[in-house]
Amino acid sequence: MKNENSAFASSPEPLLNPGREPVLDLSRKPFLNPSQEPVLDLAALRADTPGCEAVIHFNNAGAGLMARPVLETVLDHLRLEAGIGGYEAAAARAAEVADFYAALAELLGTRPGNLAFAASATHAYTKALSAIDFRPGDVVLTTRNDFVSNQIAFLSLRKRHGVRIVHAPDHPDGSGVDVEAMAALMRAHRPRLVAVTHVPTNSGLVQPVAEIGRHCRELDLLYLVDACQSVGQYPIDVEAIGCDLLTATCRKFLRGPRGSGFLYVSDRVLTAGYEPLHIDMHGARWVAPGYYRPVDTAARFEEWEFPYATVLGCAAAVRYALRVGLEPVARRTPALAGRLRERLAAVPGVRALDGGPAPAALVTFTIEGWQAAPFKAAMDAHGINSALSYREFAQFDFTDKEVEWCLRLSPHYYNTEDEVDAVAGTVAELARSAR
Ligand SMILES: Cc1ncc(COP(=O)(O)O)c(C=O)c1O
Repeated sequence: MKNENSAFASSPEPLLNPGREPVLDLSRKPFLNPSQEPVLDLAALRADTPGCEAVIHFNNAGAGLMARPVLETVLDHLRLEAGIGGYEAAAARAAEVADFYAALAELLGTRPGNLAFAASATHAYTKALSAIDFRPGDVVLTTRNDFVSNQIAFLSLRKRHGVRIVHAPDHPDGSGVDVEAMAALMRAHRPRLVAVTHVPTNSGLVQPVAEIGRHCRELDLLYLVDACQSVGQYPIDVEAIGCDLLTATCRKFLRGPRGSGFLYVSDRVLTAGYEPLHIDMHGARWVAPGYYRPVDTAARFEEWEFPYATVLGCAAAVRYALRVGLEPVARRTPALAGRLRERLAAVPGVRALDGGPAPAALVTFTIEGWQAAPFKAAMDAHGINSALSYREFAQFDFTDKEVEWCLRLSPHYYNTEDEVDAVAGTVAELARSAR
């Protein structure tokens, strides 16, 4: 079943056939080389990732390659739905669906009842925003590097509710938002919401979300973190960050299926009675003709209809990430990106754009002599997956950097040093060809 207290709480149980093979047996392959230091067993991880055979996938910030157990879990469930019926398949896999919340709670340092599944990070984000009763003049305090769709959502709130959007300035040393200046703005404006993107989509910058969180807790301000690019890349602890709400997708560094996301909702927010504007029969009980009561858990942010195969795939992806281990992932992934940055810095005509003292695995750069689409097409032709970012994704950042577009390369732990060198070599060749 889904969360305790969910609309499914009344479903008959137990629904798991105890004799059945588990869909996902993660106990089989150890991914840490036991002989020495905890070093990831790359051969095993790559053998488990069908896409590694076909492409050099440096678009994990777009969507990570699914590992085989994730893929099989999704396909198994679709087969089961086709075989016995969608509702019946959901009932048969209730325990595994519940494990989505349990696994994610383990990943984020919270409890299952504080988590809601969503169709995307943006869906989770806008649901969270819809729970806030904004009044004209209320301030949303955010940063100059917050995600494009979040910025558009704030502008839409300004259009409809007359909220004021205040952007905290960046620190002059290029390390991201100036936390002291942001704290001063918190004290001056007492914002209705503080909203920060941990790692933006358009650069490797890592924002100091826990430092900001300390100020929010001190001043008792509602704090929403977009951790879309950091979940699965770094250990994330919602208590350490001090956030009230946190959103992400499962498809990027968690390597889950597309069409997935989630929302963490703190006990503070749940007990204060926040609920999404549009709440349905899963999020609430219609207890009398003129009255509904939201469920006690974060399930109030979910909807009745639910992509079970996707959710099960997400559960498998989170279990997989836990099994690989977020510490080794967080050591290896940004280090691979660092190697790539170093190689690209030596290429004439390439300009690296990432800031901050310890950038994440999103490597962004411009290249002289190329337009955006043909450059990406040339990378595609070399079997290298990448992504483009345009100024409309990052109005402040790209204006500051005076760029119209950049290419983003985002490796993950299962990529190899040889792939990094091959990618840098291809960029060097393309840079030369344009000179
Ligand atoms: C930082 C950040 N936030 C939010 C999102 C939106 O995620 P979704 O596409 O799942 O809505 C993205 C997607 O690239 C992102 O990079």
